[in-house]
Amino acid sequence: MKPKNCLIFGASGQIGRNLIRGLTMKNLKVTAVTRNLHQKGYILKTQANPGYLEIVEANMFDLPKIEELVVKSDVCINLIGILFEKGKNNFTNIHEKFPSMLSKLCYKHNVNKFIHISALGIEKAVNSKYAKSKLNGEDGIKKNFKDAIILKPSIIYSVDDNFTTMLMSLFNILPIFPLYYQGKTKFMPLHCKDICNLIIDLVENNTKGETMECVGPEELSFKQIIETLLKLIEKKRLLIPIPIFIANIMATFFQCLPKPPITKDQIQLLLYDNIPSGKYKTNFDYGNNFHSKFENEVEKYCYMWKDSGEYSKKKYK
Ligand SMILES: NC(=O)c1ccc[n+]([C@@H]2O[C@H](COP(=O)([O-])OP(=O)(O)OC[C@H]3O[C@@H](n4cnc5c(N)ncnc54)[C@H](OP(=O)(O)O)[C@@H]3O)[C@@H](O)[C@H]2O)c1
Repeated sequence: MKPKNCLIFGASGQIGRNLIRGLTMKNLKVTAVTRNLHQKGYILKTQANPGYLEIVEANMFDLPKIEELVVKSDVCINLIGILFEKGKNNFTNIHEKFPSMLSKLCYKHNVNKFIHISALGIEKAVNSKYAKSKLNGEDGIKKNFKDAIILKPSIIYSVDDNFTTMLMSLFNILPIFPLYYQGKTKFMPLHCKDICNLIIDLVENNTKGETMECVGPEELSFKQIIETLLKLIEKKRLLIPIPIFIANIMATFFQCLPKPPITKDQIQLLLYDNIPSGKYKTNFDYGNNFHSKFENEVEKYCYMWKDSGEYSKKKYK
């Protein structure tokens, strides 16, 4: 049987890299689109056996080029997303206009499956530009491609993430750490391999026209997540609840950095729990292979943030 051709946008990111490995191991062909082949080529090339992966450099709004790629695809997966805006890389362009354009093209060229990754807990976060743009993106896709599959994950973590790894790096340099909203915001972290396995199943089976909220097996508050990470890297830090107006002043300065650790918009988002709304099915209605526990999984890669680095690595039999 001819391998299905999966076109992936945002393939060099955390989910993309893991997904390329999983899809190509199942004999599916992948075309990975990146903005910068020179910068991301080495990350992408090592994710698959030769012959299974084609890497294409393209601007996401280069319509003729994107159309050319869509025409050759059986499956299209959109993983492009940002957490903060910089110039034209704004939420409207990335989370609304691009998914709308891509879903229209996929419909026009009879692409068999369109899978889009949105986010969990965005319905209530009316003051967050990120949340609003992700929601508008979902609405646009549903209008253009009614059989689209939309996944709405809670935090995705792995050794390739920007979440646990960034927090552990910050704990190594900061003696105190701020807690927003007393650290009470709830999350249900999902391991990257679990969402990738779900996406691979969805590529291979007959599911169509589904919106699914994707969560891990545990509900953890932001404070519990921080305490777990600190325990794992054997560090003690003073956790200080800070008033939101101070958090916003700090975020105003952070926003000037090339990669801000937190923005004012993310502080807005943290006001709302990141747990299923009850409006959609969850990944647990779909299957039951989502058992990876946060502490067990982070323990496997956290050792480089401990004082004795690789010498403190736990031995696995
Ligand atoms: N990670 C999470 O905790 C989480 C939670 C909820 C939802 N999501 C959503 O899941 C999706 C994938 O997440 P991820 O963690 O894999 O993201 P990621 O690691 O940040 O990767 C996103 C990818 O998007 C591409 N990208 C970013 N800005 C772009 C732009 N202006 N034009 C074109 N491409 C751009 C980049 O690829 P190139 O640099 O190669 O072009 C990057 O590799 C995103 O939509 C995200 O919002 C993630």
